[in-house]
Amino acid sequence: MGFWKSIFSTPSTTSASGTLPFEEYAVIGVDTRTGTEAKIYFSTDRNIDLYELEELCDAVGWSRRPLRKVKKAIEHSFIVASMWEVRGARRRLVGFSRATSDHAFNATVWDVVVHPEFQGKGLGKGLMKYLIDKLRRQDISNITLFADPQVVEFYQGLGFMSDPEGIKGMFWYPN
Ligand SMILES: CC(C)(COP(=O)(O)OP(=O)(O)OC[C@H]1O[C@@H](n2cnc3c(N)ncnc32)[C@H](O)[C@@H]1OP(=O)(O)O)[C@@H](O)C(=O)NCCC(=O)NCCS
Repeated sequence: MGFWKSIFSTPSTTSASGTLPFEEYAVIGVDTRTGTEAKIYFSTDRNIDLYELEELCDAVGWSRRPLRKVKKAIEHSFIVASMWEVRGARRRLVGFSRATSDHAFNATVWDVVVHPEFQGKGLGKGLMKYLIDKLRRQDISNITLFADPQVVEFYQGLGFMSDPEGIKGMFWYPN
């Protein structure tokens, strides 16, 4: 593919300069076709354009959800971690994830998504590591999630275990 010239440095705490509203970046890439530098920034700012998020979720084929409920879910999440491609003054939402929590012991990760154009470059892993780091800084020790069957290995690569010590996730759905 060769789009990203350089992939993954260790997550940095360097602040974005100028007017960029992002707090950290972890990856710098160069579009080898144009020579333009593009940076990937991570952010915990939950002020996300819901239509842009919907577009991202559409791109991976997720069913649409009512935006008022998505807004509420974001407002009530413990940590919202987003990932942005920044080129000059332009920014684009290319990844998203969030975690709910009891703010003491447990957190559960939801809605992990990376835009298809940006998949397979280590960015999903970077986004998850960023989110986990934020949770660990809040002294959360028990992080759980519900993995679609086709992404179990992705999460295993980050240290998540299926059914540890035989524990089973259980669900209740309305009839
Ligand atoms: C799952 C998803 C977030 C992964 O993001 P990504 O940026 O493509 O993943 P990365 O490039 O960071 O991959 C990290 C590692 O996981 C592996 N991996 C990624 N997706 C995988 C998959 N579906 N199955 C198995 N392994 C996978 C990669 O090979 C890589 O392995 P390595 O560290 O040994 O090289 C992304 O594919 C996506 O958004 N999918 C659609 C939405 C979705 O299914 N979300 C999860 C809902 S539970």
